Amino acid sequence: MEFSVQDGRQHMAKFMLSYKFALAEMTTKIDILREEFRLIHDYNPIEHVNSRLKSPESILQKVEKKGLEMTLEAIEANIHDIAGVRIVCSFEEDLYRVANMLCAQRDVKVVAQKDYIANPKDNGYRSLHVIVKIPVFLSDGMREVFVELQLRTIAMDFWASLEHKIYYKYEKDVPARIRTELQEAAEQAAALDRKMARLNEEINILKELDGTNDTSLGKYIRDFVQANMK
Ligand code: GTP
Ligand code: MG
Repeated sequence: MEFSVQDGRQHMAKFMLSYKFALAEMTTKIDILREEFRLIHDYNPIEHVNSRLKSPESILQKVEKKGLEMTLEAIEANIHDIAGVRIVCSFEEDLYRVANMLCAQRDVKVVAQKDYIANPKDNGYRSLHVIVKIPVFLSDGMREVFVELQLRTIAMDFWASLEHKIYYKYEKDVPARIRTELQEAAEQAAALDRKMARLNEEINILKELDGTNDTSLGKYIRDFVQANMK
């Protein structure tokens, strides 16, 4: 009896460890892109990155909510956000670019994508969600592990974190007036994203014109990356 409890604990620990490693791999991939961009393009498309492992308590809550069997196999197959990474970019264009670059990597398999930017949720929520699978190599072999990527602009992130706070403050029953104001704020955040993108575009054109944008090598590499992104 004692043996099997010990066994179970070890299984659980190892189960969670795979997700921790998957997060580490994913954040390394993002760090590499970030650093390379900064060096080569003198530009940083990523503002900040957060990663988190879902706590065992919230995993169990989700098992119950989804009516899943209480087994590691069922959890592994059905809960795809145990490992989560949030990537916040300045501009919408950057966020799609970063998502495409990550998803194009050979060891990254895209399982599902929800584009709440092209199709915002009714409450106004915007973000790009991508569920990917990446291989994690352990002493006894390889496991493919799900990671949830959430990509947003700073404006989207600002909105989402406030909405999240309000949602929990009102215990998921937000008064109509506040819901309406949140929808308005989401529209304003989207308008701000558009305006900032337009201004940024103008600045880039000016830099291009006065030749301060990049060196010929930088331009060559940027063109190469862009040509190979699709
Ligand atoms: P779960 O909500 O994770 O059970 O799965 P789902 O199928 O509903 O996935 P979805 O892609 O809609 O949402 C996954 C995650 O995105 C959530 O856990 C939140 O972190 C975030 N998210 C989705 N919708 C909202 C929203 O309306 N407001 C905020 N603040 N975050 C949201
Ligand atoms: Mg949800």
